Amino acid sequence: MGFLQAVDKEKVPCHVAIIMDGNGRWAQERGLPRARGHVAGVEAVRKVVKAARRAGVRYLTLYAFSAENWARPKEEVSALMDLLVSCLHGEMPLFLENDIRLRVIGQEEAFSPEVKAALQEALDKTAANRSMDLVLALSYSARWEISQAARRIAQEVKAGTLDPERIDPDCVARCLSTAFMPDPDLLIRTSGELRISNFLLWQIAYSELFFSPVYWPDFDEEMFYEALVRYQQRERRFGKVLSATGESGKRTGLQ
Ligand code: IPE
Ligand code: IPE
Ligand code: MG
Repeated sequence: MGFLQAVDKEKVPCHVAIIMDGNGRWAQERGLPRARGHVAGVEAVRKVVKAARRAGVRYLTLYAFSAENWARPKEEVSALMDLLVSCLHGEMPLFLENDIRLRVIGQEEAFSPEVKAALQEALDKTAANRSMDLVLALSYSARWEISQAARRIAQEVKAGTLDPERIDPDCVARCLSTAFMPDPDLLIRTSGELRISNFLLWQIAYSELFFSPVYWPDFDEEMFYEALVRYQQRERRFGKVLSATGESGKRTGLQ
């Protein structure tokens, strides 16, 4: 029996976030330039997007390019940008056929006019889709995002439109680029690295973490479904003590 059959359809995580890591090592191990690993990674993106949609995941956030990734060699960055533009065009049928809405979080202003135009076009063309939001984290940095939120809050306080007494976690969350969706229930990182690398620091406070040793280009549908099954075996407590009978039935089915 495959992992898809083992996924409990009633307990599918609403939001799955993925740190797609290991493209460079995948290529290097084959004696190929790093950029070839990124090209190979697109196939994994396609598989996982379809798998997430099929499983009923409502929000899928993919860490595609960090703010720190700009510091990579020029050739690699430009290969990644070209790949992004070609994917936004090439994958449009996938988004439209699967009723997927594209979203972007990150410092969009950092991109070239060509990339910005391709992003805008993809956002516009998919804006009416409702079955799943595919959120691309591009030029994303969680610390930058939190700093932006702090700046916005400070400006509102300065303008007299916000009482400092009303600054609480909900207020901060509303100022983040992820305000339109719930926090990730499950965070997956591939490639064996056990770190967060400045991704969604605020939002993953109570996310379940799943680390896969597999390089991103080798990650596939079955591995994604396995992560969902492992997630469903966890007991999420949010700091509380759950009663043996299963407070609000949360423990039921989680063995
Ligand atoms: C992830 O793979 C993709 C991006 C960061 C754009 P890497 O390029 O980081 O691959 P490794 O970690 O060097 O193997
Ligand atoms: C995180 O991976 C960013 C993306 C997957 C886009 P990195 O490869 O950039 O992170 P580090 O350098 O291993 O922490
Ligand atoms: Mg990496």
